[in-house]
Amino acid sequence: MCGIVGYVGSGEASARALGVVMSGLARLEYRGYDSAGVALVTADRERVAVAKKAGKLVNLAKALAEDPLPDATAAIGHTRWATHGAPTDANAHPHLAAGGRIAIIHNGIIENYAKLRAELTRDGVIFASETDTEVAGHWLAREVDTGLSLTDAMLSTARALEGAFTFLAVDAREPHTVVGARRNSPLVVGLGDGENFLGSDVVAFIEHTRVALELDQDEVVEITPDGVTVFDRTGAVVVREPYEVTWDASAAERGGFATFMDKEIHDQPAAVADTLRGRIDEHGKLQLDGGYIDDRVLNSVDKIVVVACGTASYAGLVARYAIEHWCRIPVEVELAHEFRYRDPVVGVRTLVVAISQSGETMDTIMAVRHAQQQGANVIAIVNVQGSTIAREADAVLYTRAGPEIAVASTKAFLAQITAAFLLGIFLAELRGNKFPDEISALLAELDEIPAKVQRVLDTSQPIRDLAHSMANERTVLFLGRHVGYPVALEGALKLKELAYIHAEGFAAGELKHGPIALVEEGQPVFIILPSPNGRHSLHSKVISNVQEVRARGARTFVIAEEGDTEAADYAEQVFYVPASPVLMAPLLKVVPLQIFALELASAKGFDVDQPRNLAKSVTVE
Ligand code: G6P
Repeated sequence: MCGIVGYVGSGEASARALGVVMSGLARLEYRGYDSAGVALVTADRERVAVAKKAGKLVNLAKALAEDPLPDATAAIGHTRWATHGAPTDANAHPHLAAGGRIAIIHNGIIENYAKLRAELTRDGVIFASETDTEVAGHWLAREVDTGLSLTDAMLSTARALEGAFTFLAVDAREPHTVVGARRNSPLVVGLGDGENFLGSDVVAFIEHTRVALELDQDEVVEITPDGVTVFDRTGAVVVREPYEVTWDASAAERGGFATFMDKEIHDQPAAVADTLRGRIDEHGKLQLDGGYIDDRVLNSVDKIVVVACGTASYAGLVARYAIEHWCRIPVEVELAHEFRYRDPVVGVRTLVVAISQSGETMDTIMAVRHAQQQGANVIAIVNVQGSTIAREADAVLYTRAGPEIAVASTKAFLAQITAAFLLGIFLAELRGNKFPDEISALLAELDEIPAKVQRVLDTSQPIRDLAHSMANERTVLFLGRHVGYPVALEGALKLKELAYIHAEGFAAGELKHGPIALVEEGQPVFIILPSPNGRHSLHSKVISNVQEVRARGARTFVIAEEGDTEAADYAEQVFYVPASPVLMAPLLKVVPLQIFALELASAKGFDVDQPRNLAKSVTVE
């Protein structure tokens, strides 16, 4: 939510400063695209040079082409997801203070901004925007006015603020410095050769350096051409070890696909395979990526609570069926924002599993903290290395999906389910619910999933064609049962997010309790059909649901397993996916629905990578 980039070059003013910041913003635009802006500093000027424009980055690029900015020694840039104030030019960041000497950009929400704004107004400050950010800018300027350096002023400003923030600021009188601060919002440092970088995410600078350094809560960082200094909230210098980012710039490119989303859908076989790779050691123990929870604690767990938001919460719903079945531990799945504020019953015997692609979703961070305060242990299933949730959890299992740029989640979903399955398999073995040969069989079944996902992709033309024929539909319903239910929810969410079509996912068994009233002649209904195999198959029950909606005039589109000989009798069209064990079927059956939403949105001419009103990483509560 809001993307932030900062850069200091090797001392001489150059066009590189603006170039680095603009390309960083292009990679961070997934975080918000209500407006974009840059501020540049040059040694011999009294004011910073600023350009900012409402709308996507392309508007700013156009404005810069018409009215170029000077070469610079340092630069900051921002892409906004609006919270305080409408997405206008005036509310776009950077915001200026000290008569244009200081520029500031911000990601987050300052909760005590009204009080601070009133105080500044009493002091005669005139505000140019409705944002909370501008308050921080003027506060910072006031501190600088007392004779403090920009860094010291940032330290004292951060202490005065409540809420969540990442700030970057520049001062025309310190042309070789960018200062950053973070509390509850992400900020990563990129270490270059004679130049240094700051970004909300490593993608902001990955094309320039893969050596990164993370900041902890309430830290302030100062970057200059040849140095990076980190301070804790008291101003004491903190030593941080840099690390190497494991993927390179090409992973954050579209790789020949028209959209990031299409590319990421095609990354899914690799995302699942990479998440599985080398996870179980010779003793059958799950290899975590960081942190540790004692086996005795895991053995004593009497309840698992999955906390997550959006698509990640649907991954949790899928995992629930598997973990309960394999481990015989009750699993609750709760939206993180609901969990946090309902006084949930959690304690030392509760294992909380926080699932998040970004690791920065504020509601999920808050849920993790709340659970830890109650004594629960937290395992994070997270995609972004070094993100807040990954760092704060007691243990972390990374989904190795690579950077997910499209706002609507696809490959992270499959990787999250895969990682949660690994956790379930590990707990089942640890707690003696499964024999080693059963564990091996489950792992072998998971190993077959990437090739099967590839088959779904290779045979996706019919669903693409269907999507193009349905561009004018106003409502689409999705029905699923058991693990097919979260698949239905995810199919509906994708369609809402991307194609702005009213879509609902229902538990098929609930149909008769209300949703069937929505069905009228010609209503498209997607049904996730379970496997016909197995003793407890729900196949015939869901077939009955298909018949029920069909009898009322619905057009039925069925996602079924290859070899299901009955499906075609009840459907206008069947989309087949390879057969798989029941619990693993969501990893295959959701893929045609992702493609359906992508194609339908494209057919309507919408921007599938950056749907309206959304942001990839919701870093405000
Ligand atoms: C936003 C994104 C969704 C994502 C959700 C949770 O709403 O648009 O695609 O599922 O946040 O994000 P997380 O990073 O915690 O998985």
